[in-house]
Amino acid sequence: MKKEGVVLDYNNMMAERIGPTGLEYSEIEGAGKTVLKAVEWFYSSRAKGKLDFFDLPEKSEYLKQSLAMARVMKGRCDDLVVLGIGGSALGTSAVQAALNPYHYNYDPKARRGHPRLWVLDNVDPEKLSSVLGLLKPQRTLINVISKSGATAETSAQFLWIRSWLMKSLKKRWAKQVVITTDPNEGLLRQIVRQEGLLSLEVPPGVGGRFSVLSPVGLFPLAMAGIDVKSLWEGAKRIRRRTLEENPWRNPARLYALVQYLLYRKGYHLNVFMPYSEALYPLADWFRQLWAESLGKRVNNQGQVVETGPTPIKALGATDQHSQLQLYIEGPRDKTITFIRVEKFRKDLNIPKAYPQHKDLCYLGGHSFGELLNAEARATAMSLARNGRPNCTFIIPKIDANTVGQLIFLLETATAFAGGLFEINPMDQPGVEEGKRYTYGLLGKSGFENRKVEVEKFEAGVQERFIV
Ligand code: PA5
Repeated sequence: MKKEGVVLDYNNMMAERIGPTGLEYSEIEGAGKTVLKAVEWFYSSRAKGKLDFFDLPEKSEYLKQSLAMARVMKGRCDDLVVLGIGGSALGTSAVQAALNPYHYNYDPKARRGHPRLWVLDNVDPEKLSSVLGLLKPQRTLINVISKSGATAETSAQFLWIRSWLMKSLKKRWAKQVVITTDPNEGLLRQIVRQEGLLSLEVPPGVGGRFSVLSPVGLFPLAMAGIDVKSLWEGAKRIRRRTLEENPWRNPARLYALVQYLLYRKGYHLNVFMPYSEALYPLADWFRQLWAESLGKRVNNQGQVVETGPTPIKALGATDQHSQLQLYIEGPRDKTITFIRVEKFRKDLNIPKAYPQHKDLCYLGGHSFGELLNAEARATAMSLARNGRPNCTFIIPKIDANTVGQLIFLLETATAFAGGLFEINPMDQPGVEEGKRYTYGLLGKSGFENRKVEVEKFEAGVQERFIV
């Protein structure tokens, strides 16, 4: 098998490998009608402009805009602070961790002239003040990212950092800010116009969690020295495979389909477990993608279905000593998705010593990469031997191209899974409700009744507290 790109090894999902808890070929073949329906949904949603993420690798303009903005900003800052949450932040963190050295923020040599990157995707005041203490306003670039331009966390961060910049830079604060938001709509776009701020676009038909290959991810990643062109080309390359009609030759469709079929048999959890520290933050990104896209109360016909697989993140080999016992012997409700890297960018040899101690000396002469991969294979096999369905995305090496492939493959698989589950993978109505209660509690006008609702809900339950 020629393995230049990402490979999906789904052998351990199949009954012939793991026994009756796996899938029969006939079950996959037999899902033809369901697949056809999902394919139709996919094409009609694309035609309606609801799956524009799928065409990002065919449109170079967003790549060009991001690179052009990065060229303008290059050399103007020592620190780049991304303010955003959810889909506006997780992709950048994942790709940065995958492709930049672990010590990027701590070592100027590792940064090769690029700024430190801080992705602040929370409003924890302790963390925010710690990071701020490390920054100099005149050498800090702020990239505020919000598609809606109305997210409370990002808006609060924007107000906070703007005031910090203004204290030392006065009117010049505006030069230190790039806003990434909807091209026409939303409050942030209004502020861009009002203040004359630099800005980039979140393409209107691309949802937050599908937006890392747009300026949302491409600009900050280019600033941090990531080869975003190769990232984008990797996505473009795998896109061709995800267009393949036959699911047996289309890794995105097959992954979505086996996950869907196993979900219907009670496998409601999907553990995403890279055997690579650099790819661990990708598990955070995938967790949001899979959960927010597929967890839905109603289906496309408006029926209440309360459906959706729960993604869980784990790290190999660390979590072999934490979670694996449960995965192998606990309830049969999980599939495991491994990510395995064939060749590590740096490897270390384990020295030979203590020939008299066979429990130690067997390690000598191998490398850490070999050890990690042996553990990945052994874990996959022991799960399989216990009838636990698992599959592995194998990547030859971690680079911008393979990471771009993996991201696009998983995005497409998620959207396609939405078609199989017959839900809308692009919205998040459940999250919106909590947002409205927060607005009410913080006194946003128009949401006064939400505050009353929360207060009523919380009133009179004091006797249930243990103090
Ligand atoms: O994937 C999504 O759509 C969400 O996670 C959003 O990215 C998140 O809620 C932030 O929204 P916004 O970009 O509008 O600030």
